[in-house]
Amino acid sequence: MATTGVDAPGRAQIGAKTLRTDRWWLEPLITFVVLTLFVVYSAWRVFMNKYYYSTPYVSLFYSPCLAVNCVEGAEPGGPFGEWWKLSPSLLIAWIPLTFRFTCYYYRKAYFRSFWLSPPACAVAEPHGKYTGERRFPLIVNNFHRYAFYLALVLNVVLTIDAVMAFRNYDGTWAHVGVGSLILTANAVALWLYTLSCHSCRNAVGGRITHFSKHPVRYQMWTLVSKLNTQHMRWAWVSLFTVVLADFWVLLVASHTITGSWV
Ligand code: FES
Repeated sequence: MATTGVDAPGRAQIGAKTLRTDRWWLEPLITFVVLTLFVVYSAWRVFMNKYYYSTPYVSLFYSPCLAVNCVEGAEPGGPFGEWWKLSPSLLIAWIPLTFRFTCYYYRKAYFRSFWLSPPACAVAEPHGKYTGERRFPLIVNNFHRYAFYLALVLNVVLTIDAVMAFRNYDGTWAHVGVGSLILTANAVALWLYTLSCHSCRNAVGGRITHFSKHPVRYQMWTLVSKLNTQHMRWAWVSLFTVVLADFWVLLVASHTITGSWV
């Protein structure tokens, strides 16, 4: 017998799943389609194991490239062996994907669009009971604060990649291609997404009894709190810049597009 959820004692007994007449299903449907496409694209690129480097660009799914079988130019190229002979991306891509999967905003998004728990405000969910995030698989969401620190490290690497995207083939600087600008925009979007994270807000301002005794942390907390109000926006913007940045590297590395402007 259910003791929680819509059938819990004390809840109004309404037969209809919802009394809403607007298109409440549109947002979860769009979220479902976009996130599904992102997961499929990411998996495709992670296991592709080619077209991830073309001087001076490297795909973020393969950076840093830590296996000895990385293509020439993708740094640092080791210390790991020929990683399952599948793809060196397997060593790296799990970090940003875990960071996104456990993100507080994305939880809301996929709880609504995939779990239908609930699909929208004032719409009953199909589940009879709620076990929260105390069991597998959703218990892994508690890893988010650690994924945040790993994502910070990756952001530093991707920022370096964006700077290196302004190098010429001969090693001199001042190369400016569309890829340089895309990788830079992606690095900026990823920093804004990461620094607006709820775990970041807790890291800089949590566990303090008196802000007055920690003025620097108070300033940082104030700044992160402002960013945090836009976290959903940066979650979506960075999702698209990630795909765009990787897809551009794919096009250049596979010689689908050529020219000094790329
Ligand atoms: S809450 Fe979204 S990245 Fe941390």
